[in-house]
Amino acid sequence: MKGNKILVTGGLGFIGSHTVVELQKEGYEVIIIDDLSNTRIEVLDGITKITNIRPEFVKLDLKEKEAVASFFKEHKIDGVIHFAASKAVGESVENPIKYYENNIATLVYLLKNMADNNVPHLIFSSSCTVYGQADELPITENAPVKRAESPYGNTKQIGEEIIHDLTKVNDITAIALRYFNPIGAHDSVLIGELPLGVPQNLIPYVTQTAAGLREELSVFGDDYLTPDGTAVRDYIHVVDLAKAHICALQRLLEGKNKTKMEYFNVGTGTGSSVLDVINVFQKVNDIALKYKIVDRREGDVTSAYANTKLANEELGWKAEFGLEEALRSAWQWQLKQV
Ligand code: UFG
Repeated sequence: MKGNKILVTGGLGFIGSHTVVELQKEGYEVIIIDDLSNTRIEVLDGITKITNIRPEFVKLDLKEKEAVASFFKEHKIDGVIHFAASKAVGESVENPIKYYENNIATLVYLLKNMADNNVPHLIFSSSCTVYGQADELPITENAPVKRAESPYGNTKQIGEEIIHDLTKVNDITAIALRYFNPIGAHDSVLIGELPLGVPQNLIPYVTQTAAGLREELSVFGDDYLTPDGTAVRDYIHVVDLAKAHICALQRLLEGKNKTKMEYFNVGTGTGSSVLDVINVFQKVNDIALKYKIVDRREGDVTSAYANTKLANEELGWKAEFGLEEALRSAWQWQLKQV
C-alpha cells in the first residue's frame, strides 16, 4: 500500500533493483540495504533515473549482527523483501560455508530483528531448485521438495523451513516466491544483470558471446529426453518477476493470505530448450551466435517449467513478456556495457 516503508535487502542486485523500481512506481517508500559484494553502487543512479526517486540506501552486510540490530532500531519498517544472498551454484559446492553463512546465518539475524521489532511481513527469494527434477510437468507448488543438489539449493530449502517455523509461533506472515529462470533487463536499459567474471548462467553467456567477449557458447548436453535433446527451462523476464513481488507484498499487507506462510511459483509456464533460446536470440536480435554442443553439466535437471495457476489466481499476477522480449532486452543491456 502506498506510503508503506519497505526494506529491500540486496536491493542493488539484479532482481532487487528491478523490484525497487516497481515498488517506487507503486508509491512505496523503499530503503535498500546491500553490501555491494556482487553489484555496483551506480545501480542506485539507474533506479533514480527510471523513477525520479532516489531510494534511501544503507551499505550494510547482513553478517554484521550489531549493525543490523541498530538498523532495525533506527528504522520503522512495514515489510521486508529479502534478496541478499549468494547465488552461484558451482561456487556453493566449492565453498559451502560461505553459502550457509551468507544465506542462512544472515536470514536468522534478519528474522530475529524482524521479530524483535514487530516487522510483520516478509517476501523471500526462493527458487524452483527446491523441486529438483520434478516428476510431473509443469511443476505445481504441491510437487515435493527434493533433496538439494547443491549447498546453494539447500539454503533455499532450509530458508523456507526456517521462515515457516517462525511464522508458526510469531505474528510474521511470509511468502516464498519460487523463481524459475530470471533473465532480461529493464527496457530503459538503465538497470540489468551485472555478472562478475565468467558467467555461469545461460543468458549472460549468450550475450557476452554475441558481443565477442567470449569465444563460443557451450551447450551443455543434447542427449536429454526433450524435443531437441537440450535441457528445458522457464525463462521469466525480470520485470515480470519484480512485479510478482509487489503482488505478494500487497497480499500480505492487505491480510489476504490464506496461511501464515505461502509459496508461489513465478514463471511463465512455458518451457524453452537451450536451442530455442539460441534460435530466438539470433532471430530477434538479428545476430549470429557461435556455439558448440559439449557434455552435460553436472547437477542440471532435464526440464523445469512452472504451473502458474496459483500465482495467477491468488496473486492476480501473470507474466506479460515472452522469451523474445526478454532476449531483446538482454541484448540491448549487453550493448550498453563497456
Ligand atoms: N547452459 C548451457 N551453457 C551455458 C550455461 C547454461 O548450455 O554456458 C544451459 C544449462 O545447462 C541449463 C540452461 O542452460 O540447461 C540454463 O542454465 P542456467 O545456468 O542459466 O540456469 P539453471 O537452470 O542451471 O539455474 C537456475 C538458477 C539457479 C538455480 C537453478 C535451479 O540460475 O539459481 O536454476 O535449477 F539454482
